This record gives sequence, structure tokens and C-alpha cells, in this order.
Amino acid sequence: MADSTSRRVTIAPSLLAADFGRLREEVTAIEAAGADWLHLDIMDGHFVPNISFGPTILAALRKHSNLPFDVHLMIAPVDLYLDAFIDAGADHISLHPEAGPHLHRSLQHIRKAGKKAGVVLNPATSPDTVSWALDLVDIILVMSVNPGFGGQSFLTSQLPKITRLRQMIDAADHPIALAVDGGITMATAPKAIAAGADTLIAGTSVFRAADYAEAIAALRGDV
Ligand code: DX5
Ligand code: ZN
Repeated sequence: MADSTSRRVTIAPSLLAADFGRLREEVTAIEAAGADWLHLDIMDGHFVPNISFGPTILAALRKHSNLPFDVHLMIAPVDLYLDAFIDAGADHISLHPEAGPHLHRSLQHIRKAGKKAGVVLNPATSPDTVSWALDLVDIILVMSVNPGFGGQSFLTSQLPKITRLRQMIDAADHPIALAVDGGITMATAPKAIAAGADTLIAGTSVFRAADYAEAIAALRGDV
């Protein structure tokens, strides 16, 4: 097992905290600043109490970025919309087990389309939820806040869950990214990494920073 200090951390800024009036410039700037993925939070005002944007925005931005588009679906029922996001240019699609009746089937659908499939675990959702679908999973995303809003505080209660998932992933027979989403700052990033995360999703601490490149490097632990 690679220890937490030797793993290169993937940084995925969340577009939710960008200036929505200047989305194209924001996406260009974040790519130039060294982001590894672009995280796109899709909210339906039903599964979570907020509405963000849909596949049309994704397709419009797709033309202006070479970053992997890491789509986090917070919509229910989720299955009806998988193809819309696949067609719009998503590279990764992550969904919550609570958002559809057949997690395994949803993951099969995403994989069959040639995309990376992810499972998102809410703060109260057990890591065991994913264990019998691990063969279909490329990303496990631990929510360190309740989904729906940016700018919330990191829930340290999730750290042991990250460690548990790290053990599960290290025992798996294929690579799986272990991402943490919500309240990631310069103070909380080292805790998530020490617990076993290799991917950090960060909205506020990157898109509200004066210098995107500095913010990304700081989260990665490069400065
Ligand atoms: C919350 C979203 C997060 C959010 C993170 O539902 O899944 O991706 O944008 O924002 P910060 O980094 O501000 O907590
Ligand atoms: Zn997210």
C-alpha cells in the first residue's frame, strides 16, 4: 500500500463556487492553474435543497476545456438523466446510492458508455454500501458535508470512513480514486489526505481564492 505521503493528490475544483457570469473564463483559468479534474455539481432542488445547472451548461463548457469533467449527480431519480450527461461530455459520473433503486445497474450503464463510474457516500451512508459493487467502481466520493451547498464546514466524523474505504480500495484488484468533497481547505486537506484520500474536491477554497494556482498547490501540499 502506498502511504499517504507518497501519493500524488488529485485536485478537482468545484465549479459551484465559480463566477457563473463568467463560466468559460473560470474554466480556462482553473485549467491553466493546474487543476486535474473539473468537478461539476448537478442539483435538482429535490434530491438536495438547491438547484445548480444541467447538461446544457456542461456541453457548452466541454468545448473550452481539456480537463476531465467529473460530474457529481445530486438528482433523483438519477437513471433518467445518465445519458444526458454522458452525451454532454462527462468523463466521470458519480451518483448517490439513495438516488436510484439499482446502484449496480446504474454503474453498469455508466461503464458501458465508456465513462468512469463513481459512488458518493453521504455523511450518514455506510462505506459498506459500495462493497458489493466495487468491481464497477472507479471513484468513491466521501461527502464531508451534507450535499447541496458550497461553503459548509468539514465534518471530521467522516475521517474514519475515509480510512475504512482506503483499506477496501487497497484490497481491490483495480485502481479506485478516493475523493473527499465538502469543506476542503488548507486546514482540512491534510486531515483528509492523512486519512487516506487521494483526491480533493474544493469549491470555495479554490474559486474564491485570489490566486487559483497558489490555492491548488497549497491543497496538494506542494507549498
Ligand atoms: C456540495 C458539493 C460540493 C461543493 C463543495 O453538495 O458536492 O462539491 O461544491 O464546496 P466547498 O468546497 O465550498 O465545500
Ligand atoms: Zn460535489
